[in-house]
Amino acid sequence: MSAVSKILAKGLFNKESIITLLNAEGIDKDILFAKAAEIKQEYVGNQVHLRGLIELTNKCTKNCYYCGIGSSNKKVQRYTVPMPEVENAIKFTYDSGYGSVVIQTGELQNESFIKQIEDILHSINKIGNGEIGVTLSCGEQTIETYQRWREAGAHRYLLRIESSNKDLYYKLHPRDKKHDFETRLEALKNLQKCGYQTGTGVMIGLPFQTIENLADDLIFMRDFDIDMCGMGPYIEHIDTKLYEYKHLVPSKEIRLDLSLKMIAILRIMMKDINIASTTAMQTLVDGGREMALKAGANILMPNTTPGLYREQYALYDNKPGLDEEAEDSKQSIEKLIERAGCITAYGEQGNAPHYSLRI
Ligand code: 5AD
Repeated sequence: MSAVSKILAKGLFNKESIITLLNAEGIDKDILFAKAAEIKQEYVGNQVHLRGLIELTNKCTKNCYYCGIGSSNKKVQRYTVPMPEVENAIKFTYDSGYGSVVIQTGELQNESFIKQIEDILHSINKIGNGEIGVTLSCGEQTIETYQRWREAGAHRYLLRIESSNKDLYYKLHPRDKKHDFETRLEALKNLQKCGYQTGTGVMIGLPFQTIENLADDLIFMRDFDIDMCGMGPYIEHIDTKLYEYKHLVPSKEIRLDLSLKMIAILRIMMKDINIASTTAMQTLVDGGREMALKAGANILMPNTTPGLYREQYALYDNKPGLDEEAEDSKQSIEKLIERAGCITAYGEQGNAPHYSLRI
């Protein structure tokens, strides 16, 4: 029996064994993905749940070194999608039977922003007859804000830790009060306290990142007892500080391989959580999202941001579907899911089984 088979048979996941899995090649790699597929089928099934994604605003007060919409990037035209268009997108999601919406924004903390999200939450509730699931992805906020939004109807929140290693975190963010690692951790804990289905995630294939870091990221997610995960490859953006270290970024092949293995291992470690197949997977390689579904992901987030604004929400270079609303049309999403051997779930929120068991 190979080392990989032994680890999977025993179900023993520590830093050392996870590193072995991340390095798996050949038959061992096939065994890893087969195990992830088996666990996915058993615990979350073959259905893929959809979340209509609205990139509400690219205004941001932060300056993360990897992100194309950081406040120091003057080339970006800043926008906020006007309410009528937000409502159209919500209607589209509801009418399409997608089951959930995700509201994603740059990081803003002022009262008018907080209120705006609250208004949108009320509108989602109204348009969707209280049937639509709502995920927010609006960065670090005070616990009071998290509570307000929870009361207004949000019940899931995604806040990526980006990297659970503090040293690496500070290679990706300015070392200042606005980008404090401990504050990020505290925010994640507060989300759990407020009763959100809590999601986090990391970028994979960053400059300076090691296999050990990735193993620690998976352990972090398990120990934090997350309900959802969104993770994907790091993609360079020319107008960011991290671009200086382009030569340290692993090849596309390596980033793809590591991203798929991260998904597969997480599925095996945290059987009943929701794992998203992210847009960055698709940016890295054509068909990336199908591959992520096959590796263990069970959530897809079709972009429903009005086309006019999409181009300005460029977190990284070559984001797909910028001028092509059809890229994420209902039919193409359905086909994508079919190609991955899965079934599209309509009219269901698709909450992570992990959450109800945790609560
Ligand atoms: N490559 C990949 N992912 C990125 N994100 C931001 N910039 C990049 C990039 N260059 C991810 C971050 C953030 C999410 C909204 O997008 O993980 O949390």
